[in-house]
Amino acid sequence: MKVSASPELTQFAEDVLRGLSSSPKQLSSRYFYDDEGSRLFMEIMKLPEYYLTRAELKVFTEQADAIRGAFAGENNAFDLIELGAGDGTKTAALIENFLANGIDLTYSPIDISQEANDALEAKFRERCPGLDIRPLTGDYFKILGDLKTTGERRKVLMFLGSNIGNFQKEKALDFFRHLRAVMNANDRLFIGFDMQKDPRTIVAAYDDAQGITAAFNLNLLTRINRELGGNFDLENFSHYAQYRPVECAARSFLISREKQTVHIAALDRSFEFDQWEPIFMEISQKYTRAMIEDLSSNSGFKIETEFFDEENFYVDSLWRPV
Ligand code: TRP
Repeated sequence: MKVSASPELTQFAEDVLRGLSSSPKQLSSRYFYDDEGSRLFMEIMKLPEYYLTRAELKVFTEQADAIRGAFAGENNAFDLIELGAGDGTKTAALIENFLANGIDLTYSPIDISQEANDALEAKFRERCPGLDIRPLTGDYFKILGDLKTTGERRKVLMFLGSNIGNFQKEKALDFFRHLRAVMNANDRLFIGFDMQKDPRTIVAAYDDAQGITAAFNLNLLTRINRELGGNFDLENFSHYAQYRPVECAARSFLISREKQTVHIAALDRSFEFDQWEPIFMEISQKYTRAMIEDLSSNSGFKIETEFFDEENFYVDSLWRPV
């Protein structure tokens, strides 16, 4: 069967068509975050099993002075640029420390969504009144490319929340190389990595007892139903998460509980599912120190400082270009 999208299809429709036409079937986790998806992710961050957000927040609150020192260098001034800031709570903890210690600072969250940036700006204006915040809306690399030539000040780029783990290895390397290309020698890159640990702890984080993560994954089917005229019956799919300790990779799937046909009006197509056929939803890569070392050296960086939480569950790693 020919799989080509007509020009009127949105990027979302095109990606759904491609994903459900491939074998194994897959859907991209970048579409998790509609309004309901964002709300569910906020719930995930509060779950007892989801240790990542708490671990990173603890690193920021307990080691804020050391992080400030590493960011500020000799000039006590830098421009903080964040890729995908989410709700900004963790970043706010750092920024409060920076402002209280007289850092000459600007903060630019970059997001593809103007709404997300507006919400973030409102939140920071309230929580950090003295902050010079300059949200930038658009594509990461386009914006960073434009910034490269402006000014002498150090730029610190942040990519938190182990979002890097949602990229396959080659994609992660590509991403870092791209960032390297738009950075000057004095700039720094600060990345959150979730570490390898007891496999049971990891699986629980992606398959919580209350079923919020399941709802978060299933919500993408609801989104397809609403935005693309699909007729997924959510009762017929169940969320399944696994962790493979050799590859250090957590993966989530939606499993078709029976043989079924799903029609998607916007694609003018039906898709057959066998009983127990999986849809691959997402990878959440975990890391060893050696893997992080490898990623940095293969993309033109050197690790300058590492900030671990006390359980070594999580690390925020500061890289400098070489
Ligand atoms: N990057 C985070 C992680 O991998 C956040 C995240 C993305 C997430 N997709 C998710 C968390 C799905 C839980 C379920 O953990």
